[in-house]
Amino acid sequence: MCGIVGFTGRSQAAPVLLDGLKHLEYRGYDSAGIAVQKDGAIAMTKTSGKVDALIDKVRATGGMPGVSGIGHTRWATHGVPNDVNAHPHMSQDGRFAVVHNGIIENFAELRKELEAEGVAFQSETDTEVIVQLLGSYYEGDIKQALLRTVSRLEGSYAVGVLSADVPGTLYAARAASPLIIGIGAGENFFASDITALVSHTKNVIDMDDGEIAEITPDRITVFDHAGRAVKKEERHVTWDVASAEKNGYDHFMLKEIMEQPAALKATIEPRIKGGCVCFEELGLDMKNYDSILITACGSAYHAGVVGRYLIRKLCRIPAEAEVASELRYGDPVIGERTLVIVVSQSGETADTIAAMKKCREAGATVLAIVNVVGSTIAKLADAVLYTWAGPEIAVATTKGYTTQIAVLYMLAAYIAKHLGLLQNEAALTDTLQALPRRIQQAIDMNPSIPALARKYHASKALFFIGRNTDYAVALEGALKMKEISYLHSEAYAAGELKHGTIALIEEHQPVIALCCNASIMEKTLSNIVEVKSRGAEVLALTFRSNRQIVSVADDLLFIPPVDPLFSAVIEIVPLQLLAYHVARENGCDIDKPKNLAKSVTVE
Ligand code: M6R
Repeated sequence: MCGIVGFTGRSQAAPVLLDGLKHLEYRGYDSAGIAVQKDGAIAMTKTSGKVDALIDKVRATGGMPGVSGIGHTRWATHGVPNDVNAHPHMSQDGRFAVVHNGIIENFAELRKELEAEGVAFQSETDTEVIVQLLGSYYEGDIKQALLRTVSRLEGSYAVGVLSADVPGTLYAARAASPLIIGIGAGENFFASDITALVSHTKNVIDMDDGEIAEITPDRITVFDHAGRAVKKEERHVTWDVASAEKNGYDHFMLKEIMEQPAALKATIEPRIKGGCVCFEELGLDMKNYDSILITACGSAYHAGVVGRYLIRKLCRIPAEAEVASELRYGDPVIGERTLVIVVSQSGETADTIAAMKKCREAGATVLAIVNVVGSTIAKLADAVLYTWAGPEIAVATTKGYTTQIAVLYMLAAYIAKHLGLLQNEAALTDTLQALPRRIQQAIDMNPSIPALARKYHASKALFFIGRNTDYAVALEGALKMKEISYLHSEAYAAGELKHGTIALIEEHQPVIALCCNASIMEKTLSNIVEVKSRGAEVLALTFRSNRQIVSVADDLLFIPPVDPLFSAVIEIVPLQLLAYHVARENGCDIDKPKNLAKSVTVE
């Protein structure tokens, strides 16, 4: 949550900062601000609302000249999203401005201490303690003052500092919040992630926890917590500029839905060689584990639920899936023979990180399925499988989720093979390699989705039902619908309806029934008949050839024929499109739904 960016060079800073913030806006979008250094002073412009409002305000103030600066787009934690609480925050003496992503857990105690020394706070934020501490510790050496400041902070932070006294020099610090330094020619940057920088540079340095950096246009020096210079590796990023732009689509979400065939191809193809699933990067002996626990949040957890079904089916190992925010405070029965699989698009989700640390402390091996290279989860895990989905900008995940499922499919097959349980691997890999094509077919065979969205968009509630992997997909379908269209949507295991939920079924209540698993089709059909006889309107998702379902449903969405073991990754696509079009009908801000942020780096 929150995105930060910094620039120092020879050209104007404000346009670079504002462009960077536009690309980081998915991380938080309730207020924004920039600060620019010029002639020994810091100028600052901040506003509640989105980055576009900030752009207008900066323009109105004459563009804020200056060649170094910092910027922030906020997802409020401490203090309402207004102009005052927007970042940057300034030290009392006006010598420093700070932007921050994360949470300072001991801010109340630090604030009390500073207030006792006479500091008058301007905002309600936790962040302001950072800049006021810095101001109070500064005795002519910013590096020392910053080291002393961060040594007092508890919690998580990616911090950017601008000083009035040292022209062209930025400082940055990191603990448990993402932060990279971008390396340019005669200009350098910092940012929460590469999407803010990719139009300027693809060469980055990943900052690690406890490090601070001094950044000038021509030099980057990283120090450890004791102030000793640290040698850092440079990393070249492969994401291109176009992948972080809308490219003619109205929304990033639609673009990312449409990118799924290509994204899945990038996930699957390099891992299939000569009819075999190969995870050369894995380096784990699957015979060392007796049980598997999958943990993640939100859609990544839903991908984990699909994975759990497949691992049980193919590998015959006890497999569970648990949301990370529960696992971190629970008592999981795990140990050295447990393989914990953490799933995360961003690799920065606070609950997932806490859960994985807990599992490691209990002796488990942690395998991460992650999209963002160099992210915290990727760094902390014992082994990593990247999803290679490319940048995902829309807050609602689509290709991030389907590529996670694709990796889980391949992993299940790989484990089964190592346990001597996989039959006909060549047929299975053919099925996997066909998935990108099947997704394209699922997109092409449902032209009725905009019309269905017009029919259902004003419903009071939507119920998604299914069994087994259909149920796992129902969970994700309902989440997609609620997060972008604000329509109350819930998923139920179809067999559970009669244990309570069926009391909610009344005349014209829409029920979205997922029926893509032939072995349990009859059972879901019975549930459809039960809700229909109570007046429900049923939109069924199934195969065109499934005459029984087709004849009983009021409306239909189709997927192409596919082995039911692997249908989940296809089934979700028409549901993503349905959620997208319902959100459009409801006039919602699809890429930036209210109250949400892409990367949930706070608890
Ligand atoms: O980056 P992660 O995959 O760890 O994020 C987990 C969830 O926050 C995320 O999937 C969230 O539920 C999405 N907004 C759903 O579209």
